[in-house]
This record gives sequence, structure tokens and C-alpha cells, in this order.
Amino acid sequence: MVLLGDEFPNFEAETTVGKIKFHDWLGDGWGILFSHPSDYTPVCTTELARVANLIPEFAKRNVKVIALSCDSVISHHGWINDIKSFGGIIGDGFPYPIIADENRELAVQLGMLDPAEKDAKGLPLTCRAVFVINPEKKLALSILYPATTGRNFDEILRIIDSLQLTASKKVATPVDWKPGNECMILPSLSEDDAQKNFPRYSSVKVPSGKNYIRLTKEV
Ligand code: BEZ
Repeated sequence: MVLLGDEFPNFEAETTVGKIKFHDWLGDGWGILFSHPSDYTPVCTTELARVANLIPEFAKRNVKVIALSCDSVISHHGWINDIKSFGGIIGDGFPYPIIADENRELAVQLGMLDPAEKDAKGLPLTCRAVFVINPEKKLALSILYPATTGRNFDEILRIIDSLQLTASKKVATPVDWKPGNECMILPSLSEDDAQKNFPRYSSVKVPSGKNYIRLTKEV
């Protein structure tokens, strides 16, 4: 398993754009690797189509996207036509690669197998994992969904906005935060530093009298 802050494995894999070495493919920016249980399945088709349509949003945030399942490259290429048709995606090609992890090496290494989902041969399939990798090639976030629950990629974009903001500023983003909303000053920041960094910050009064809910519009 890769834990938060660990260097993400620099694996080699077969993909729909040929063999890749992951860190070289990532380059200097952010990355998302997301897995799905199987090609030619309904929820996965909706997810991969949605991601294809959101590629300009990921690109704006300097995030490269790659998908993965245990199906072959040939299967991925065939299925891509269905994804494009479903998502109304026109033109040649497909806007991001799909890894073919046929022997489940990456699925095991990254802890992505869903024991409840098996293929026709009884082999376990990948769950709906999301890994966000930062420009230092470290794991910044991971989430695992079971096969039966499709993801919300607006939430994934919101996560990226939070990760990118909090990577450089001394703030954390509160519940249901969206870009432009107030942020919380980090609890680790002393009162003096909070005043220096965020001179117009406000506090929420609470029964304990402790000054820990410190909000700022400036970041
Ligand atoms: C789907 O993508 O629709 C799916 C795949 C595996 C299990 C359940 C649903």
C-alpha cells in the first residue's frame, strides 16, 4: 500500500498510448490515477466519459489523468469507441491513456482490488480508486469506492483545488468548501503568525472560549 506522503511507485505499464514509465509520463505537474472494475460496464462508461469531458478542467489545474483496469489494451481500445459515443466526444483518439493491468500487479501493489467483484474466471477486479500525485511524485490523496458506487468528478476537481491551495498557503479548507470561499487558518499557526499572514482574519466565538476557528478570505 502507498500511504499519504509516500513516493508514488515509478511503475512501468502497458497503456493505450504504449508502454509508459509513470514518473516520466507524469512530468513536473500533478497527476491522477483512477481505476475502474471492468471495460464494457455501465457505471465505468459514465465515469470515463465524464473524465474525458473534464480534461480541459484538469489541464487548467496542470493535472494529467490516467485510468486503469485489469482488461487488455485491445479491450480498452474497443471500449473507448463506446465511451466516446456515450459522452458525445468527437474527433480522433482519446484524451487520456488507460493502463492495462492484466496480471493485477499494480492492483495488488496499490491495494486497489475489490474482493466483492470478480471476473468470469473468478479473479478479483479493481475497485474505483483515486490517487492524486503531487509534483514531488508523492501521494497527496487516495480514496477507494466499491464497484457499485460511481464517483463524482466535480468533487475530485474540488479536491484538487483544495490540495493545490493548501500545498502553498497556511490554510485548510472547511466542509463543503469551494474555490473563493473562506478558509481556516491552520491550527499550527501561532496567534502572532496568524495576525501577520492574515491581518483581517475573523474568529468564530465558541463556548470553550478557545480561539481556534479562525477564518480568512485572504489566502
Ligand atoms: C459498472 O461499471 O457498471 C459496474 C462494474 C462492476 C460492478 C458493478 C457495476
